Amino acid sequence: MFKKIALALLVVFIAMQLYRPDKNTAEGDVVAAFEAETMPSAAVKTILEQNCYDCHSNNTVYPWYAEVAPISYMIANHVDEGKEHFNVSDWSKWDFKKKDHKLDELIEEVEEGHMPESSYTWLHGNMSEAEVESLISWAKEARAKLK
Ligand code: HEC
Repeated sequence: MFKKIALALLVVFIAMQLYRPDKNTAEGDVVAAFEAETMPSAAVKTILEQNCYDCHSNNTVYPWYAEVAPISYMIANHVDEGKEHFNVSDWSKWDFKKKDHKLDELIEEVEEGHMPESSYTWLHGNMSEAEVESLISWAKEARAKLK
């Protein structure tokens, strides 16, 4: 009985690997316009790259386990949803009001510890307090410069 169940699960697992969700990757610098206007320092740029861009830009850096279903499905979902709410690769398409609002939301999400998502931090690690602080002060400065 146990062997049959294990075998059935194995078959399901293998079958799952056949479906590969589309990857979120793009050529070129997909954050150039965003960074040109918000001017993150080299340190803040690194924080964004390591904690945010995977779900909020047109280019995700995939870890090896992203190849394995059902993790691949879950990642594809989070990236789709994250980009739907906030995609920095669309920055140049937004008017002042939308840019300002998104930066305001960014500050709020990070201050409240909602971003990056816990599904991400348990493998990628949390931002340090200092990183959270520099991310927030950069976003506040960027908002002020928009005006
Ligand atoms: C694992 C994917 C993932 C990562 C990494 C991630 N986010 Fe998100 N983000 C989401 C998803 C999904 C949503 C939409 C659902 C929600 O609001 O919880 C979201 C929502 C947001 C929103 C709200 C936008 C709106 O219009 O409501 C902001 C702002 C945001 N994220 C900023 C960030 C920042 C800044 C970082 C890095 C510090 C980050 N996110 C990291 C997935 C992610």
